[in-house]
Amino acid sequence: MNVDLLTILKALADETRLRALRAVSMSEMSVAELVWILGVPQSTVSRHLKPLRDAQLVEARRNGTSVLYRRGPAYQDASLSGLLDRRLSELPGATQDRASVHRMLEARKAESRAFFERMAGSYESLTEPGGGWAALAQAMAVGLSGMDVADLGAGEGALSVIAARFARRVYAVDQSPAMLGEISRRAGLLSLDTNISLVSGDLEALPLPDASVDVAFLSQALHHAATPSLAIMEAARILRPGGRLVILDLASHEHEWVREQFADHWLGFTDEQLSAWCEAAGLVVRCCERVPGSSKELPVTFFFAEKHSTPKRKNKS
Ligand SMILES: C[S@@+](CC[C@H](N)C(=O)[O-])C[C@H]1O[C@@H](n2cnc3c(N)ncnc32)[C@H](O)[C@@H]1O
Repeated sequence: MNVDLLTILKALADETRLRALRAVSMSEMSVAELVWILGVPQSTVSRHLKPLRDAQLVEARRNGTSVLYRRGPAYQDASLSGLLDRRLSELPGATQDRASVHRMLEARKAESRAFFERMAGSYESLTEPGGGWAALAQAMAVGLSGMDVADLGAGEGALSVIAARFARRVYAVDQSPAMLGEISRRAGLLSLDTNISLVSGDLEALPLPDASVDVAFLSQALHHAATPSLAIMEAARILRPGGRLVILDLASHEHEWVREQFADHWLGFTDEQLSAWCEAAGLVVRCCERVPGSSKELPVTFFFAEKHSTPKRKNKS
């Protein structure tokens, strides 16, 4: 506290100031809200806030174009806050003022509730969930905490770097040295390079040991593989028992132009193809559904399958 005791005591020597102090100690609030709670003119509130601010009992915080008042450093000081909290609650009118603050907070909640009641069903026309799909993906990646993850056909590494914040290790596998270089650059910028292993290799002959990861992603990579069933077989091999394979790929389509524009080898896959390849690789299909893609013409299949938690016994012959 770098304000002298006399300044603090002088600031406290007024009933309206004590009421204002009690109100802002319950919640940050604007001058207009203080006017409503204390039932005094705006000029009176502003006049009384000045000595409270000088004594650092109250401080102002900008919130866009509005200014909110809250407890200042002198009020936060442990030696003073205990005493003030106790004595302010004993002042005459404390119950009514407290009730007014609660009504004001209820009004704020009601405003927010009314807005979302109106917007239900059309909120996502205003903004993307999570404030942006990248932010949402980052939040969901918390679920990868402590896991070993393979990003197969990692490309520029968007998924790898999102996963690497939480996963124990991410193996970013790609055939292209230029793509691996880009992942390295991104990981370095985010100081995530120690959690990401760059792996140069082929989806159909992964240079990773059996049962070495908990989750494997094939995100928009399978339609580039020469033999997709082999890539799925390899992904299943590196999964630990109980591990998961997540596939994001294009649903079967007929847009030949993707061959030239994106070097796609396969025009997406049917649900039956993906399921049959996963089952042949010893995986149990858990989910297969369509999600909107970045292009309306090319819907995406979200697919995930699990490896048996105990290896299947082989039949004796
Ligand atoms: C379309 S990008 C996908 C990037 C990223 N996973 C995503 O979801 O946006 C496909 C990536 O798979 C890689 N790829 C294609 N075939 C591959 C193969 N047989 N072995 C390893 N990587 C391969 C390409 O080099 C490319 O970086």
